[in-house]
Amino acid sequence: MKQHHKLFDLTGKTIVVAGGAGQIGFAFCEILADAGASVVLADIDVEMAKDKLSELDGNLAEKITIEKLDVSSRASVTTFFEQLEATFGSLYGLVNCFHFKGNTRKLDTSSNFFADFENYPEEAWDMVHDVNLKGAFLMSQGVIPLFKKNKGGVIVNISSTYGKVSANKSIYGDSGINSPVAYGTSKAALINFTRYLATHLAEQNIRANCLSPGGVFNNQSEEFISNYTRLTPLGRMAKAEDYQGAILFLMSDASRYMTGANLIVDGGWTAW
Ligand SMILES: NC(=O)c1ccc[n+]([C@@H]2O[C@H](COP(=O)([O-])OP(=O)(O)OC[C@H]3O[C@@H](n4cnc5c(N)ncnc54)[C@H](O)[C@@H]3O)[C@@H](O)[C@H]2O)c1
Repeated sequence: MKQHHKLFDLTGKTIVVAGGAGQIGFAFCEILADAGASVVLADIDVEMAKDKLSELDGNLAEKITIEKLDVSSRASVTTFFEQLEATFGSLYGLVNCFHFKGNTRKLDTSSNFFADFENYPEEAWDMVHDVNLKGAFLMSQGVIPLFKKNKGGVIVNISSTYGKVSANKSIYGDSGINSPVAYGTSKAALINFTRYLATHLAEQNIRANCLSPGGVFNNQSEEFISNYTRLTPLGRMAKAEDYQGAILFLMSDASRYMTGANLIVDGGWTAW
């Protein structure tokens, strides 16, 4: 095998993609399986996962197994890792790629997730942090015994450009999908949570990095897309596949000297 292939090779490694049924998560499952990994797609919306997997090329699909998981529930996370230990024994990687947006399938403008700051409901604030932040905490804590059996591991937390800069209120118009306060606060916290993991788990040969994507095209209004595009130096919204190179890099030996970092892949959104 050529040297550069070896760097990115994940053959024989088991990786959990939590939130793997989503737009970005599923693209991650595909590329990690393509690189040789056994992928555990864990998600609260198992039906969506099954639908997507049924449309995937058979060779890749057979490397991906689906498990039901609610990352915001300690009981669900504990059961999930117990089952994983019984099946795989150890684990190499974990991608925390979930978020609460009121509706797992679409951008639902009637959801209180999208309420403006003045009216932001405490329940929505709690729910967003329970999933986005506590979920990453429970998953990263729960995975450690399986990483120990592997003599190390790799965690990648998926944050956002909105973990680094504020949501830009000028792009939303009347779309009703204004990125809410709780999203940005949870995503910013995830970046420093990752630094904590990196500095406190390095001696156990565990690396932790963040990947911060920019906005993915998801049938938003023309006005929104045009506004987003105008503020993006590369001149378009992302496709979920645009992040496959970054996850492969962060999960593999190609990034073996990297920990505690936040890799921003956003078409240049945060560059000006
Ligand atoms: N799509 C974007 O424009 C964008 C931009 C920047 C960052 N991100 C981040 O990327 C990640 C993935 O985003 P996406 O666009 O694929 O989102 P998505 O909504 O398509 O997928 C999120 C997935 O998380 C799952 N999920 C929700 N609550 C869960 C829970 N309690 N337990 C387990 N799974 C749960 C959903 O079922 C869904 O499959 C998120 O962390 C998001 O914040 C997305």
